[in-house]
Amino acid sequence: MSRLFFALWPDDAVRARLDAARRALTVPGRPVPARNLHLTLVFLGDVAAAPVEALDIRAATAGIAPFALTLDRFGSFPRARVAWLAPSTPPPVLLRLADAIATACRAAGLTPDTRPYQPHLTIARSTDAVADAAIAPQAWPVSDFCLVESARDADGSAYTVRARWPLISG
Ligand code: 2AM
Repeated sequence: MSRLFFALWPDDAVRARLDAARRALTVPGRPVPARNLHLTLVFLGDVAAAPVEALDIRAATAGIAPFALTLDRFGSFPRARVAWLAPSTPPPVLLRLADAIATACRAAGLTPDTRPYQPHLTIARSTDAVADAAIAPQAWPVSDFCLVESARDADGSAYTVRARWPLISG
């Protein structure tokens, strides 16, 4: 069994910009290491990896074109004690992408997290609540998405990208 989730995984340039943006904020709590910054699309939890890798995710997401994501808000989920960056208005294509993946997973008998999807990029954990605020918009051109495995290491979570799918227009 592996702890798996689908995510937008920033390339090095976007990762460096997002890291710089969150360093410019006063964020209480334990910062997420820069290498771990990501935006979850669909969380599966502990499942067997092989059936997930065998899903026809390409077919499920066909026609979803690359898109521009802009993270322009900073805030926290007080109950989960995480601070995040997020889009103030998630682009409909992002919601379609997450929904298409979740639908394919359910069709294959998997049970993705059923809570309402709130796209966010966690920047700190064990944090006190912070007031929502606008930040200088951070552009993230999205051209692919990933299946990621989460494991625990001495620093907390260690993530490994297991598979990657390009978004293809048309
Ligand atoms: P978080 O950053 O808000 O904690 C790996 O753990 C990724 O999956 C993180 O982005 C995490 O969100 C998310 N995640 C963990 N548990 C989850 C759950 N039960 N439902 C949805 N997402 C979850």
